[in-house]
Amino acid sequence: MGNNQIAENNQRLKAKVAVVTGGASGLGLAIAAMMARDGARVIITDIQGDQQQAEKIGVEFIRHDVTDERQWITILDRIDKKYGRLDILVNNAGISGGGTGTNPETTTIDQWRKVQATNSDSVFLGCKYAIDYMRRSGGGSIINMSSIAALVATPFITAYGASKAAVRQLTMSVALHCATTGSKIRCNSVHPGQIRTPMLEKLFVEAADQMTVPVAVAEQRFLERIPLGQFGTPDDIASMVVFLASDEAKHITGAQFVVDGGMQLNG
Ligand SMILES: NC(=O)c1ccc[n+]([C@@H]2O[C@H](COP(=O)([O-])OP(=O)(O)OC[C@H]3O[C@@H](n4cnc5c(N)ncnc54)[C@H](O)[C@@H]3O)[C@@H](O)[C@H]2O)c1
Repeated sequence: MGNNQIAENNQRLKAKVAVVTGGASGLGLAIAAMMARDGARVIITDIQGDQQQAEKIGVEFIRHDVTDERQWITILDRIDKKYGRLDILVNNAGISGGGTGTNPETTTIDQWRKVQATNSDSVFLGCKYAIDYMRRSGGGSIINMSSIAALVATPFITAYGASKAAVRQLTMSVALHCATTGSKIRCNSVHPGQIRTPMLEKLFVEAADQMTVPVAVAEQRFLERIPLGQFGTPDDIASMVVFLASDEAKHITGAQFVVDGGMQLNG
């Protein structure tokens, strides 16, 4: 293998334009940084963060609430006017909801609606409006951030699990619609287990509070559920997302990719 091939491998997303929602923190930030290193022009969108933060990883920032349909229309139009194409959309923004302890009886309808709006409605809106831009770009890749929570029961974060299952199901419909209408757009879902980000740190604190144990004990209980014996890193998820965004994954659509250190094996 010559040097040229190594260079090509390091630029798997060269000349592609990518949007990553929820890109100011955790997984979105790692995904955006890896995509930029792989040659993409990346736009992160979020309700927090700013252009100064984005520039540190060589990407652009747009303020965007993913639950707002009007903002989706405006922002995708703005990106189209600036770059003339859209190749990749990572629907990553999400919230865990009312915290641990929100079981099917204690979850309020307001908590339920907020979680569905942020985690599920937003993915629908992103797919709905990105498809046409990608079609006009000659194809594209949509990656929807679901969770292991879509695949197992989650009675301690009821609304969250349901919202992520909706993302999984929507992904299949988008994938088949795009494939059978000849648009060369792929759509896949990624299912992280427990990855160290601000979202997971918050869950440790909430779980500790609920179990009335120190945070370190709660953290240990989460860790015990991972057969590989360690929490995932944001780059573990970014590697999967970059692969799915790249042409290396050109024959993959409608599929679910679990990145969980074997956690699903524990049911
Ligand atoms: N960390 C994990 O272990 C884990 C596991 C499974 C799935 N996930 C999923 O991965 C995604 C990223 O999670 P994370 O761990 O990086 O969390 P995080 O809290 O670090 O980052 C989430 C980002 O989404 C943004 N966001 C929230 N609501 C928004 C809105 N209405 N509009 C725009 N942006 C909004 C936040 O401001 C934040 O920057 C989420 O969808 C989450 O459900 C995470």
